[in-house]
Amino acid sequence: MVEVKILGISGSHRNGATDYCVKEALRAAEEVPGIKTEFVSLRGKKLSHCIHCDNCIRKGELCTIKDDFQEIQDKFLEADGYIIGTPVYQMSATPLLQDFFSRLRPTYLVYPGHFSNRVGGAIATGGTRHGGQEMALLVIKNFFHTYEILVTGGPGGNYCGACVWTKDKKEEGAKEDTIGMEKVVGLGRRVAEIALTLKAGRQWLTDQGVEFAKQKLWFVNRRD
Ligand SMILES: Cc1cc2nc3c(=O)[nH]c(=O)nc-3n(C[C@H](O)[C@H](O)[C@H](O)COP(=O)(O)O)c2cc1C
Repeated sequence: MVEVKILGISGSHRNGATDYCVKEALRAAEEVPGIKTEFVSLRGKKLSHCIHCDNCIRKGELCTIKDDFQEIQDKFLEADGYIIGTPVYQMSATPLLQDFFSRLRPTYLVYPGHFSNRVGGAIATGGTRHGGQEMALLVIKNFFHTYEILVTGGPGGNYCGACVWTKDKKEEGAKEDTIGMEKVVGLGRRVAEIALTLKAGRQWLTDQGVEFAKQKLWFVNRRD
Protein backbone atom coordinates (compact mmCIF):
# COMPACT_ATOMS: atom_id res chain seq x y z
CA MET A 1 0.00 0.00 0.00
CA VAL A 2 1.37 3.43 -0.90
CA GLU A 3 1.53 6.02 1.83
CA VAL A 4 -0.24 9.25 1.01
CA LYS A 5 0.04 12.57 2.80
CA ILE A 6 -2.71 15.18 2.77
CA LEU A 7 -1.71 18.65 3.90
CA GLY A 8 -4.41 20.91 5.35
CA ILE A 9 -3.78 24.64 5.39
CA SER A 10 -5.87 27.30 7.07
CA GLY A 11 -5.51 30.90 5.89
CA SER A 12 -7.31 32.32 8.93
CA HIS A 13 -5.80 34.78 11.41
CA ARG A 14 -7.50 33.10 14.35
CA ASN A 15 -8.30 29.71 15.74
CA GLY A 16 -11.90 29.78 14.52
CA ALA A 17 -14.24 28.31 11.96
CA THR A 18 -11.71 27.78 9.20
CA ASP A 19 -9.20 25.86 11.31
CA TYR A 20 -12.06 23.73 12.57
CA CYS A 21 -13.36 22.98 9.05
CA VAL A 22 -9.95 22.11 7.63
CA LYS A 23 -9.30 19.79 10.59
CA GLU A 24 -12.70 18.12 10.08
CA ALA A 25 -11.88 17.54 6.41
CA LEU A 26 -8.54 16.00 7.41
CA ARG A 27 -10.29 13.78 9.94
CA ALA A 28 -12.54 12.47 7.14
CA ALA A 29 -9.50 12.03 4.87
CA GLU A 30 -7.82 9.84 7.50
CA GLU A 31 -10.67 7.32 7.25
CA VAL A 32 -9.28 6.33 3.85
CA PRO A 33 -6.63 3.55 4.16
CA GLY A 34 -3.03 4.67 3.77
CA ILE A 35 -3.75 8.36 4.42
CA LYS A 36 -1.69 10.49 6.80
CA THR A 37 -2.55 14.12 7.37
CA GLU A 38 -0.93 17.25 8.70
CA PHE A 39 -2.54 20.57 9.60
CA VAL A 40 -0.79 23.91 9.18
CA SER A 41 -2.20 27.25 10.25
CA LEU A 42 -0.76 30.38 8.66
CA ARG A 43 -1.85 32.35 11.73
CA GLY A 44 0.98 34.38 13.27
CA LYS A 45 3.49 33.15 10.69
CA LYS A 46 5.99 35.66 9.34
CA LEU A 47 5.22 35.56 5.61
CA SER A 48 6.55 38.53 3.63
CA HIS A 49 4.90 39.51 0.36
CA CYS A 50 6.35 38.31 -2.93
CA ILE A 51 8.27 41.39 -4.19
CA HIS A 52 8.58 40.20 -7.79
CA CYS A 53 12.40 40.17 -7.63
CA ASP A 54 12.25 37.42 -10.27
CA ASN A 55 15.18 35.53 -8.77
CA CYS A 56 13.07 32.42 -9.27
CA ILE A 57 12.67 33.07 -12.98
CA ARG A 58 16.16 34.41 -13.74
CA LYS A 59 18.15 31.96 -11.64
CA GLY A 60 15.74 29.06 -11.27
CA GLU A 61 15.92 29.35 -7.46
CA LEU A 62 13.39 28.78 -4.71
CA CYS A 63 12.23 31.93 -2.92
CA THR A 64 15.23 33.76 -1.44
CA ILE A 65 13.26 35.75 1.17
CA LYS A 66 13.97 34.05 4.50
CA ASP A 67 11.10 33.87 7.01
CA ASP A 68 8.60 31.27 8.21
CA PHE A 69 7.72 30.40 4.62
CA GLN A 70 10.45 27.80 4.00
CA GLU A 71 9.16 25.40 6.62
CA ILE A 72 5.67 25.35 5.10
CA GLN A 73 7.08 25.17 1.58
CA ASP A 74 8.87 21.92 2.50
CA LYS A 75 5.60 20.42 3.68
CA PHE A 76 3.86 21.65 0.55
CA LEU A 77 6.43 20.07 -1.76
CA GLU A 78 6.19 16.78 0.07
CA ALA A 79 2.39 16.38 0.22
CA ASP A 80 0.31 14.30 -2.21
CA GLY A 81 -2.93 16.23 -1.73
CA TYR A 82 -4.15 19.52 -0.31
CA ILE A 83 -7.16 20.82 1.56
CA ILE A 84 -6.94 24.58 1.78
CA GLY A 85 -9.41 26.72 3.71
CA THR A 86 -9.92 30.46 4.00
CA PRO A 87 -12.31 32.79 5.79
CA VAL A 88 -14.03 35.14 3.34
CA TYR A 89 -12.56 38.64 3.52
CA GLN A 90 -14.24 41.17 1.23
CA MET A 91 -15.74 38.31 -0.78
CA SER A 92 -12.30 36.84 -1.43
CA ALA A 93 -9.58 34.75 0.23
CA THR A 94 -7.50 36.34 3.00
CA PRO A 95 -4.43 38.37 1.98
CA LEU A 96 -2.47 36.06 4.31
CA LEU A 97 -3.34 33.03 2.17
CA GLN A 98 -2.71 34.92 -1.05
CA ASP A 99 0.74 35.97 0.20
CA PHE A 100 1.49 32.32 0.84
CA PHE A 101 0.34 31.38 -2.68
CA SER A 102 2.55 34.04 -4.27
CA ARG A 103 5.60 32.94 -2.32
CA LEU A 104 5.15 29.42 -3.70
CA ARG A 105 5.59 30.67 -7.26
CA PRO A 106 9.22 29.48 -7.56
CA THR A 107 8.33 25.87 -6.71
CA TYR A 108 6.67 25.10 -9.99
CA LEU A 109 9.38 26.97 -11.88
CA VAL A 110 12.22 25.09 -10.20
CA TYR A 111 10.45 21.72 -10.29
CA PRO A 112 8.27 21.79 -13.44
CA GLY A 113 5.49 19.23 -13.32
CA HIS A 114 6.14 18.43 -9.63
CA PHE A 115 2.49 18.98 -8.69
CA SER A 116 0.84 17.46 -11.75
CA ASN A 117 -0.03 14.19 -10.02
CA ARG A 118 -1.62 15.85 -6.99
CA VAL A 119 -5.10 16.91 -6.05
CA GLY A 120 -6.56 19.78 -4.08
CA GLY A 121 -9.89 20.80 -2.58
CA ALA A 122 -11.04 24.14 -1.17
CA ILE A 123 -13.08 25.31 1.83
CA ALA A 124 -14.41 28.82 2.46
CA THR A 125 -16.12 30.04 5.65
CA GLY A 126 -18.10 33.28 5.63
CA GLY A 127 -20.04 35.19 8.27
CA THR A 128 -22.92 35.80 5.85
CA ARG A 129 -24.95 33.13 4.10
CA HIS A 130 -24.01 34.22 0.57
CA GLY A 131 -21.04 36.32 1.60
CA GLY A 132 -18.62 35.41 -1.18
CA GLN A 133 -17.71 31.83 -0.26
CA GLU A 134 -17.79 30.77 -3.92
CA MET A 135 -15.52 33.68 -4.89
CA ALA A 136 -13.04 32.75 -2.17
CA LEU A 137 -13.09 29.11 -3.29
CA LEU A 138 -12.24 30.28 -6.78
CA VAL A 139 -9.06 31.98 -5.54
CA ILE A 140 -7.88 28.69 -4.06
CA LYS A 141 -8.91 26.65 -7.10
CA ASN A 142 -7.23 29.09 -9.48
CA PHE A 143 -4.08 28.70 -7.41
CA PHE A 144 -4.34 24.91 -7.82
CA HIS A 145 -4.79 25.29 -11.58
CA THR A 146 -1.75 27.54 -11.84
CA TYR A 147 0.41 24.90 -10.19
CA GLU A 148 -1.06 22.02 -12.24
CA ILE A 149 -2.71 20.59 -9.13
CA LEU A 150 -5.90 18.73 -10.13
CA VAL A 151 -9.02 20.11 -8.48
CA THR A 152 -12.00 18.35 -6.94
CA GLY A 153 -15.12 19.97 -5.52
CA GLY A 154 -15.92 16.77 -3.65
CA PRO A 155 -18.69 14.23 -4.23
CA GLY A 156 -21.76 14.99 -6.40
CA GLY A 157 -23.71 17.89 -4.95
CA ASN A 158 -20.63 19.65 -3.61
CA TYR A 159 -19.98 21.13 -7.07
CA CYS A 160 -17.29 23.66 -6.22
CA GLY A 161 -15.88 22.73 -2.82
CA ALA A 162 -17.22 23.41 0.65
CA CYS A 163 -18.99 26.66 1.55
CA VAL A 164 -19.72 27.19 5.25
CA TRP A 165 -21.91 29.88 6.83
CA THR A 166 -20.52 30.68 10.28
CA LYS A 167 -22.54 33.73 11.39
CA ASP A 168 -19.15 35.00 12.65
CA LYS A 169 -19.37 32.49 15.49
CA LYS A 170 -16.13 30.62 14.88
CA GLU A 171 -16.27 26.83 15.44
CA GLU A 172 -19.75 26.96 17.00
CA GLY A 173 -21.14 28.75 13.94
CA ALA A 174 -19.57 26.24 11.57
CA LYS A 175 -21.05 23.32 13.53
CA GLU A 176 -24.52 24.89 13.24
CA ASP A 177 -24.24 24.85 9.43
CA THR A 178 -24.80 21.11 9.16
CA ILE A 179 -25.14 21.19 5.37
CA GLY A 180 -21.85 23.11 5.05
CA MET A 181 -20.12 20.62 7.35
CA GLU A 182 -21.43 17.71 5.27
CA LYS A 183 -19.66 19.26 2.28
CA VAL A 184 -16.46 19.69 4.30
CA VAL A 185 -16.42 16.02 5.29
CA GLY A 186 -17.30 14.84 1.75
CA LEU A 187 -14.52 16.98 0.31
CA GLY A 188 -11.94 15.66 2.76
CA ARG A 189 -12.71 12.07 1.95
CA ARG A 190 -12.77 12.66 -1.81
CA VAL A 191 -9.40 14.48 -1.83
CA ALA A 192 -7.93 11.51 0.05
CA GLU A 193 -9.41 8.91 -2.33
CA ILE A 194 -8.16 10.76 -5.41
CA ALA A 195 -4.70 11.37 -3.94
CA LEU A 196 -4.39 7.66 -3.14
CA THR A 197 -5.58 6.65 -6.63
CA LEU A 198 -3.21 9.08 -8.35
CA LYS A 199 -0.17 8.02 -6.35
CA ALA A 200 -0.83 4.29 -6.60
CA GLY A 201 -1.69 4.59 -10.32
CA ARG A 202 1.41 6.57 -11.14
CA GLN A 203 3.60 4.15 -9.22
CA TRP A 204 2.08 1.15 -10.97
CA LEU A 205 2.46 2.73 -14.41
CA THR A 206 6.07 3.69 -13.69
CA ASP A 207 6.77 0.09 -12.67
CA GLN A 208 5.31 -0.96 -16.04
CA GLY A 209 7.85 1.28 -17.76
CA VAL A 210 5.54 4.18 -18.62
CA GLU A 211 7.47 7.45 -18.73
CA PHE A 212 5.80 10.71 -17.83
CA ALA A 213 6.72 13.84 -19.76
CA LYS A 214 9.29 16.11 -18.13
CA GLN A 215 8.42 19.72 -18.74
CA LYS A 216 10.75 22.64 -19.23
CA LEU A 217 9.26 26.07 -18.77
CA TRP A 218 10.39 28.58 -21.38
CA PHE A 219 10.61 31.47 -18.94
CA VAL A 220 13.01 29.89 -16.43
CA ASN A 221 16.64 31.05 -16.76
CA ARG A 222 15.68 33.65 -19.35
CA ARG A 223 18.25 36.39 -19.82
CA ASP A 224 16.14 39.53 -20.46
C1 LIG B 1 -11.81 41.84 7.31
C2 LIG B 1 -12.95 40.87 7.25
C3 LIG B 1 -13.70 40.80 6.11
C4 LIG B 1 -14.78 39.92 6.04
N1 LIG B 1 -15.50 39.87 4.89
C5 LIG B 1 -16.52 38.98 4.79
C6 LIG B 1 -17.25 38.87 3.57
O1 LIG B 1 -17.00 39.55 2.58
N2 LIG B 1 -18.25 37.95 3.52
C7 LIG B 1 -18.58 37.16 4.59
O2 LIG B 1 -19.49 36.35 4.49
N3 LIG B 1 -17.90 37.24 5.76
C8 LIG B 1 -16.87 38.12 5.88
N4 LIG B 1 -16.14 38.18 7.05
C9 LIG B 1 -16.48 37.25 8.17
C10 LIG B 1 -15.62 35.99 8.15
O3 LIG B 1 -15.45 35.50 6.84
C11 LIG B 1 -16.26 34.87 8.96
O4 LIG B 1 -16.48 35.23 10.29
C12 LIG B 1 -15.37 33.62 8.92
O5 LIG B 1 -16.12 32.48 9.25
C13 LIG B 1 -14.19 33.75 9.87
O6 LIG B 1 -13.43 32.59 9.90
P1 LIG B 1 -12.47 32.27 11.14
O7 LIG B 1 -13.35 32.02 12.33
O8 LIG B 1 -11.69 31.10 10.70
O9 LIG B 1 -11.62 33.51 11.33
C14 LIG B 1 -15.08 39.08 7.15
C15 LIG B 1 -14.28 39.15 8.30
C16 LIG B 1 -13.23 40.03 8.34
C17 LIG B 1 -12.37 40.09 9.59
